Formats: sequence, structure tokens, C-alpha cells
Amino acid sequence: MTPDRRQAARDLLAFYVEAGVDAPLGETANDWLSEPVAGSLPADAPAAIEAAPAPAPMRPRLERATPAAPVAAAPAAPDVAVMAAREAARSAATLDDLRAILDRFDGCALKATASRLVFADGNPKARLMFVGEAPGYEEDQQGLAFVGRSGQLLDRMLAAIGLDRTQAYIANVVPWRPPGNRTPTPIETQICLPFIQRQIELANPDVLVTVGQPSTGALLGVQGITKNRGRWFAYNTGTREIRAMPMLHPAYLLRTPIAKRHAWRDMLTIKAALG
Ligand code: URA
Repeated sequence: MTPDRRQAARDLLAFYVEAGVDAPLGETANDWLSEPVAGSLPADAPAAIEAAPAPAPMRPRLERATPAAPVAAAPAAPDVAVMAAREAARSAATLDDLRAILDRFDGCALKATASRLVFADGNPKARLMFVGEAPGYEEDQQGLAFVGRSGQLLDRMLAAIGLDRTQAYIANVVPWRPPGNRTPTPIETQICLPFIQRQIELANPDVLVTVGQPSTGALLGVQGITKNRGRWFAYNTGTREIRAMPMLHPAYLLRTPIAKRHAWRDMLTIKAALG
């Protein structure tokens, strides 16, 4: 590669980093699920990628991203992964077990692109449990749930009713950060669901708050966060029925400050439920 081309490649990578790209998966947008051959570069990747030596950090990462392909090679894999997840989750006798089992679980492709497992934060013995959608960048860096901007707002909301993280347990439906903070796919959510269900059962809170629509849909089967927030639903943990309430996601509240008055009312409802 000539010095000019090397510099151009560096500039392009710097541009991607600036734009927020943190997991280069290929040269072009690619439907990994339709890739027929495991372990190969995308069919439409320019020949130059195959032929020319790629910039040093790029080539290993391109190769590392191909594990998505076996999912397409074996169409039954999502079902198999969901069944494996159910069995693995059931086998956990304690929250520590569950964390260790999740850490070893390879059935969800998000594990490959995330930096680490984000199991939870707060107090697992708390009577109040919040469950969000999936970790973002800060959570992925720190390995703790809701520690970024949304989490800081959640802390202020807790403080408004006289609580802090020692009195709440906080987790997510999906415990690995989706690349670029994209929404987890329905399959990823289905694969992770048995684990969060078991986590709720083992934490055994008195009040469960589903944070945002994705968590509300996954755990309560309820669609329409704006009309259902602040309402009580019955959630069966597997051993007993507890009260569950959908709440607007703090990320939405940051974008839509006028909605904070609803969140305030919901926090008061939670406080009243805790007695
Ligand atoms: N949003 C979530 O749903 N969960 C987190 O942990 C952080 C942001």
C-alpha cells in the first residue's frame, strides 16, 4: 500500500470512530443471516479487501465478526439457542450461579460484539426491581446496568422518592450491548428472556418496574407504553405473583422533558406500593 493510500485508510477509520462506529463488521452493510457460507467475507466485499493487506487492526476484527454466519447455515439455531437458554437459566440456583452461567453462555451472538456481560446493578435483595432493554456504551464499559445518562436520570428519579441503588435492583432483558446501541432483534430478545425471567424469580422483588416498551413487551406482553405506563399488571415470577408496572424509559424522558411529569406520578405510585 502506498503512503497516500495508507493515510487515506487511516483518515477513513478515524472518520468511522468519530461517527460512533465501534464494531466494524464488514465493508458494506450486510445481511448476515442470509450468508450461506460460514467464515467467509461478504460476497459483495470489494476484491481489494481480499487481495490487499488490510490495515493491521481491521483484518482480525473483520474475521472475528463472521460467527453470525453459522446461524444462517443452521436455521434451527435460534430455537436451539432458546431451548439451551431455558435449560441453562433453570439450572441456576442463585443469582451468582445465573451470572456465571450467562457468562459461559454462547447462544446469543451479541456476546461476540459486546465488551462484557452487564448482569445488573444495585441491591439484589431490594424489594424493588427495574428491568430495562439492553446496556448502552457506558454500561458495556463498566459492566453495570444503567450507569450512563439514562441511569443517572433513573438515580434522580429514585432520589425523588427517597431511594437509591441500595434499595433497588436493576437489570436488563438483554445483558450484552447490541453494536452501535441498535435495538436487540426479536430472536436475541427471545434467547435472553429465560435468563432475565430467572433473574427476577431469584431476586424475588415485591415490585417489578419494566422500563420502556421493549422490556414491557418482553416481560408483560403489553404493547403501548404511553397508555400502559403507571398501570399495574400481574407478573408471575414462577414461584409467585407480584405487581409489575411499565414506566417510560429515562432515555425517552431525556429527549422529551415534558413527559417527566408522568414519570414523577409513576414514581409516587411505586413509592406507595412499597408502603
Ligand atoms: N438503557 C437500558 O435499557 N439499559 C441500560 O442499562 C442502559 C440504558
